[in-house]
Formats: sequence, structure tokens, C-alpha cells
Amino acid sequence: AEPPRPLMVKTDPEQEIDDGKKKVSIFYGTQTGTAEGFAKALAEEARARYEKVTFKVVDLDDYAADDEEYEEKLKKENLVFFFLATYGDGEPTDNAVRFYKWFTEGKERGEWLKDLSYGVFGLGNRQYEHFNKIAKVVDEDLAEQGGKRLVPVGLGDDDQCIEDDFAAWRELLWPELDQLLWDEDDATVATPYTAAVLEYRVVFHEKDSSLLENCSTKANGHAVHDAQHPCRANVAVKKELHTPASDRSCTHLEFDISGTGLVYETGDHVGVYCDNLIETVEEAERILGLSPNTYFSIHTDKEDGTPISGSSLPPPFPPCTLRTALTRYADLLSSPKKSALLALAAHASDPSEAERLRHLASPAGKDEYAQWVVASHRSLLEVMAEFSSAKPPLGVFFAAVAPRLQPRYYSISSSPRMAPSRIHVTCALVYEKTPTGRIHKGVCSTWMKDAVQLQESRDCSWAPIFVRQSNFKLPTDTKVPVVMIGPGTGLAPFRGFLQERLALKEAGAELGPAILFFGCRNRQLDYIYEDELNNFVEAGAISELVVAFSREGPSKEYVQHKMTERASDVWNLISQGGYIYVCGDAKGMARDVHRTLHTIVQEQGSLDSSKAESMVKNLQMNGRYLRDVW
Ligand code: 2AM
Repeated sequence: AEPPRPLMVKTDPEQEIDDGKKKVSIFYGTQTGTAEGFAKALAEEARARYEKVTFKVVDLDDYAADDEEYEEKLKKENLVFFFLATYGDGEPTDNAVRFYKWFTEGKERGEWLKDLSYGVFGLGNRQYEHFNKIAKVVDEDLAEQGGKRLVPVGLGDDDQCIEDDFAAWRELLWPELDQLLWDEDDATVATPYTAAVLEYRVVFHEKDSSLLENCSTKANGHAVHDAQHPCRANVAVKKELHTPASDRSCTHLEFDISGTGLVYETGDHVGVYCDNLIETVEEAERILGLSPNTYFSIHTDKEDGTPISGSSLPPPFPPCTLRTALTRYADLLSSPKKSALLALAAHASDPSEAERLRHLASPAGKDEYAQWVVASHRSLLEVMAEFSSAKPPLGVFFAAVAPRLQPRYYSISSSPRMAPSRIHVTCALVYEKTPTGRIHKGVCSTWMKDAVQLQESRDCSWAPIFVRQSNFKLPTDTKVPVVMIGPGTGLAPFRGFLQERLALKEAGAELGPAILFFGCRNRQLDYIYEDELNNFVEAGAISELVVAFSREGPSKEYVQHKMTERASDVWNLISQGGYIYVCGDAKGMARDVHRTLHTIVQEQGSLDSSKAESMVKNLQMNGRYLRDVW
């Protein structure tokens, strides 16, 4: 193997003053914050290990304003790391889209990265078809463009334990980094290195503090609304979509966006920040042993203004009561990460509890962690209740124990042509018994089910929301045929599509043929939007509606079975240049539908399997086979 290249000191004139230190950039493409967290954890550990080196953690979007700047800056780098999540249908995260597009289309640049050493760690889920695609592609392309790969690409698998994957990848990395970065003067480093528990500085305030309960992160007034600047929207309408006889629930919700500046397009997603259930919050208060009225603020700097432990703490939320902090900002029901167990161990007064927590987080406790925590779906609160001597202070709890509550994303089920001032959501209730006997209530779906609509009370429910654009769009030419496949709540974006087609038709457009495959269990229980769908047929927004009822007859009837029955129709529409859309569950439905599509193309087109596969791939590449799957 090629010996590692010595790391030269390079300076970037626009950046901070050259302090003579070697510089390393750690990039992240993150959607929910895990990739960002890993990037920061690596920086934190590396800073402690190599005191003479500067490690910068950089959001890929913030790195450069345009392609030219990406090129210019990357050329100056010597050592970089990428933490890249793959999400949805093998797509980069929003903040990596620009970089990904520019970088992966850059084959003609040749081997221009000869001075660059790099490492890539991917975050993905093996259950999905495009497992860690983004990380794999960037890793390959870096090598192709001349970069030197320090360690094999890390393939983090969220289906198992992604923290273990990260830990294993880091273990491979240290010896390589030691060769590049080690300095005689560096403190002797204990191996394996153990990271310190992160902690905010906490200031408690008088109850009648002049600091007002601040909800600036949730207010309107921003020119552009995104995950960092959501916009407060009232719940105008809430309806149950299942019949009373159904033992499940699906909510139709309409957010009022009039006057907010929020805009959306058919097929986009809405991100919703919702509150934890009050029962969950009260339990957390009991476990922490603190009053809900405790009024406090968290800070990432020390009293003298110098930052605490680099930049690896998430930005603080505004000063508020413990009740508010637990309600809005803490993810209390996900399983705790190993780093959270270590933080709890550091604050457990009972040594045997501390020891057991450390064991669960250690390589030796890997199987137990996988079983007792992950497979049992033990929530953070369940684990904390079990280790009752562990009472982390608030600064530790919000920094290292409870992750931030993340927004939930939904495919918008309306079209702005029909509902310009409303965003419709179609949301199935998550309500299940876990292996420990706990009833798991999905945070956001339960919130939606219990939401109070404007009609009932002026004091209606509201949530901070924002719109995420998608490429799940109808063809611009209305005459192009479309095939839509969306069982269950996978119907959501197609309800938007049909509203759009109807509006276009009413405005005089000529519509091409459209067929919708919908599936549910039983006509009497969960045939959501039945009347509306029939109206769409009558009004000519779709030429055909085909419904599979999975639990009416003696055997299961799924959308893909109906597609097979209609193989020649589907093939005809494809042959006429039609678009195919699939929305819904990725692991089961979308995979099976994909296979069915392949078979249809093969049989109807009289192709062999590999020709059929390349035809389906081509449809995908040309944007004629689009999937919105989760
Ligand atoms: P089931 O629950 O009876 O198995 C919406 O959730 C519909 O999708 C239900 O009728 C459900 O059927 C069905 N479904 C479940 N798994 C599926 C799969 N792999 N492919 C297609 N439809 C599926």
C-alpha cells in the first residue's frame, strides 16, 4: 500500500488567521442530526488526541456558495472526512444535495485531488434498497478524482446499531491518523480514547424572571421557512378517516397557512414539530425529580465566555421552564444511544447501576444492548426508570442523554391549486405494544389525532411547520399518462395530484390517461377518501381507480396483484411515455411493487431479465419512475 502523505500546513486566506496549525475539515450531510452528531464526536475526540491540529465541522451547504467555490476550497484541503446520510429513495440529505450533484458530476475534472486524504462514513439502513448509496458514491468518486482513501467507507446501519458501526470505523481510523497527525508534543493518549460526557452550562432563573417564555424558534416572520425557521400554523380542520368500526385510526389534518408566507407545491413534504404528550412529560419530570416550573437556560459557553468542549453541543433552545423544555425539545421515547447510557452512568449514585450501564454501552455488552434496549424498544424513560439512581443534571440531560425531538415529515395530501391557504396531511396513528408491554404512542400521530380544530375552539392546536421540496411532481405536460400506486397513507400525495389534475382540467387543460392503484384492508373500515376518489373518477381527474382490499376475501389482495391483472394497461401507458409513481412503505410494498413492475416490463415487452432491469433503471434515471417512500 501507498505510504500516507505527510500533511502540509495550508492556509485559507478568507478563513481565520493562520495559526500555523494543520487543518482538517469534517463535513456532514444530515437530515435528523445523527450524521452531524457523529461528525462532531469525531472532531471532539480528535481534538483531544492531536492538540496541534484544527478540526472544523462543516455543514456541506455552508462550505461553499457555488460549484466554483466547492472546487476552489476542496483543492486546498489535505485531509477531510465526510459523514453522509442516505435517505428516502437513495437520495442525499437536503444539505448535501448541492455538493453531491456537483461532485458526482465531476468526472471530467480528472485526478485533481492528488493532495487529499479522506475518509467517508455513511448513515443508512440495510432494509432499504439503496443502502448507503450516497456515502458509497462519494467514496468511490473521491478515489476516482485522485483522493487517497485512509479507511474503507464506513457503512452505518440504522437497522442494527449504527453507533457500533461508527465506533468500529473510528478504531480503524486512529492508527491512520496517528501516522498523519501525531506530534511529539501531543499528550500521551490513552487508547481506547473515551470521550468526556457533554454538558451545557445551566443557569437557573427566578420564577418571576423578566425573561419571557421565548418561542422565537417557533414564530413567524422569517422570509424563508425551513427546519431552523419553522412557522406557526393553526390546525384549521381535523377529521378521522377510518370508520368507527376500525380498530385503527388515520387523521386528516389541515394546517392554515394563510398570511404565513409559507408556500408549497403538489408532492412536497411538510415537516411538523409537535409536542410530547403531557403524560410522557410528567413521567420525565418524575424521573428527573425536578419541578415542572424550574426555569432555566442552557449555554454552550463558560461563564467567562469561552466555549465549552469545542462546538459539539447542539445550539441551545431559548430559556424556558422544564415543562416546556421536555414538551418541545426532548426525544423521550426513542431508545437511548450508547453515549446516553454512558452519560447516565456518570451520574448514577449506585455503583452497580453505573457498572451495568457502562457494560451495556461497551463492546462486551453489544448483544445485550441489541436485545435489552433495541429489540425490546425500551424508551429512554423506561431505561431511566430502571436505573433510578441515575439523576443527570439538566445540562447533561439535554446535551448527552435526551436527543432533540425531531420534526416529522409527511407527504402533503393537497394541491395549492385547490387549497392555496391550507396544507393537508394524512397521518396513520402509531399505537403499538412493545415487547416490554409498554404502549408506544407515536408522538406526532397522537398529537394530530388529539388536535383541536379551529371550528371547535379559537384556542385551537398549532405547530411549528415548514415545507420541504421534493421531486415527486406530475409531468409538466398534462397529456402525459400517469400510473400511481399508493396503498394506505401512500395515497396522500396522489390526493394532491388528483386535486391538481382536476384544477388543471377545470382551467381547460387536456388530461392524458391516469390510473390509480390504491389498497386498504376493508371497504367498510379503512377505505380513506372513498367519496373523494369516486368524485375524481366522475370528474375525469383519473381515468381509472383500481382498489385492492387485502382483508375482504380468503386471500390477500395487494396493489401489486392488481397491477399484474392490469399488466397490459400499465405497459401501454409506459410505452406511451407515461410516468410511474409509488408512495408508501419502502420495506414491503415499494419493494414488491418494484419487482412487479420489472416483471410487467419483462413479460409485456418480451425482454430478458437484464434488458427489463435496464429499462426500469432508465425510467428511474429519466425521472419517469418516482418514489416517495418511507
Ligand atoms: P395488510 O395489512 O392486510 O397486510 C395499506 O396498509 C394496505 O397495504 C393494507 O391493505 C395492507 O395489507 C397492504 N400491504 C401490506 N403489505 C404490503 C405489501 N408488501 N405490498 C402491498 N401492500 C401491502
